[in-house]
Amino acid sequence: MPQTIAVLDFGSQLTQVIARRIRECQVYSRIFHYSTPAETLRKENVIGIILSGGPQSVYSRGAPHPDPAIFELGVPVLGVCYGLQLMGHFLGGEIEHSKAREYGHGVLTVLKPGKLFAGLPRKLRVWNSHGDKVTQLPPGFRPIGTTENSPFAAVEDAKRGFYGIQFHPEVFHTERGVDMIRNFLLGVCGAKQDWTTRDFIAHAIEGIRAQVGKGRVILGLSGGVDSSVAAALLHKAIGRQLTCVFVDNGLLRKDERDSVERLYGRHFHIDLRVVDAAKLFLRRLKGVSEPEQKRKIIGRTFVEVFEKSLKSIGHAEFLGQGTLYPDVIESVSIGNNPASLIKTHHNVGGLPARMKLKLVEPLRELFKDEVRRVGEALGLPREVVWRQPFPGPGLGVRVMGDISADKLTILRDADAVLHDEMMRSGYYYKVWQSFCVFLPVRTVGVFGDERTYDYVIAVRVVESTDAMTADWARLPYDLMQKISGRITNEVRGVGRVVFDISSKPPATIEWE
Ligand code: XMP
Repeated sequence: MPQTIAVLDFGSQLTQVIARRIRECQVYSRIFHYSTPAETLRKENVIGIILSGGPQSVYSRGAPHPDPAIFELGVPVLGVCYGLQLMGHFLGGEIEHSKAREYGHGVLTVLKPGKLFAGLPRKLRVWNSHGDKVTQLPPGFRPIGTTENSPFAAVEDAKRGFYGIQFHPEVFHTERGVDMIRNFLLGVCGAKQDWTTRDFIAHAIEGIRAQVGKGRVILGLSGGVDSSVAAALLHKAIGRQLTCVFVDNGLLRKDERDSVERLYGRHFHIDLRVVDAAKLFLRRLKGVSEPEQKRKIIGRTFVEVFEKSLKSIGHAEFLGQGTLYPDVIESVSIGNNPASLIKTHHNVGGLPARMKLKLVEPLRELFKDEVRRVGEALGLPREVVWRQPFPGPGLGVRVMGDISADKLTILRDADAVLHDEMMRSGYYYKVWQSFCVFLPVRTVGVFGDERTYDYVIAVRVVESTDAMTADWARLPYDLMQKISGRITNEVRGVGRVVFDISSKPPATIEWE
């Protein structure tokens, strides 16, 4: 079991960011529910604990509190924001409740570098977001840093390895924040930096072999990053015991099926079965225009086709899936966390339990950026590892209203032009997503001497870090001109190209 840094989650939206920063320092981290018993942490080989921030006041009714025994485990603890207040509260200090939240930039003055601020400048810009404040330190503690508003912005009890900071080291607005985290991990906890891509791959391969034995694994390959990396990893571990199934639902982009066949079949020599179900999907979608209805039909049909394909493959005991760590973290929801689902974002890989297959999920421990690194190390090309997100229902939600083969052809051709220009200009990798949307409205134009009456293509290019919010990308005008010129010239049936300048919220990234 690797050395583990436990991040106790008190409901901050930044908990996952803390866990990721730790792993960027090549130290393994796991997120635990705030109430996890100290004994459990001990058994998990925890060598240090970080208490996350949280939206509550330590004195509020129902405020999340940790098992007090975590302070007796003999391992270092770093409290961040709410975590610092918890330390104050549990270790004998005093906290003052303040109604006003201090929010935004502050300047930290380091009084004593000690282990936490070793090698850092004496003045640092830091990011604050907190309500309560520690007003009296617990016995054994002393201040090591102050801000304009707080004499106890950073505190330590070096003997026990307890540290508390009022600001958030995990966000980029805090200068040298990652160095503070690294100092805590290496200098205070004595972590060994044994979480590297190479070690992960070696362990994962061992784990897969131990779990699967001589069994057979089936994996639904979508061409997306997660299933691609899962396939490459499983293939490295068990070779021909892996069979990948790729369903052509008729809603793919141009050449997508060919490139999957080329890469996995011919390059990696993976046992790849391509199921051509385009006709079935289009038949079922005929005349359906309501987006959620379309999604449901596409999801259901996928499961059906996939299940049927398993029968023809023969017996298998395992289903491989590219599940990632953020999908398995049990999220702590405190107060009114606005994590509302607006669309039914089913992952078409989610198959019903009735298939009676055991799951193999070799990426369960990883964050997305780690998955990409594993993909690169396994030799997957850049186009796959850094591919933009693509929705499970594919072009099905990019043809507005009801879908037909003709509309799909127009959209596919327009999208291929956009993709080509984004790649040539290098913008493909700079933005979050870039795609075309088919609008079933006809507008008037002139082509040569003729009057035309053709469809509209909307170009959607957005920047984002997590798809929760997004802004339209400010592409250079020359590039926009080229995209629009090429689409109207090269794609028959398109008379007009518009560029979507809506941000999310209120608009979503996809149009349906
Ligand atoms: P929205 O449109 O809600 O999209 O801003 C946020 C992100 O999710 C993707 N998306 C989907 N992914 N199935 C998926 O697997 C879906 O039904 C679906 N709808 C949207 C979208 O491309 C964006 O990255």
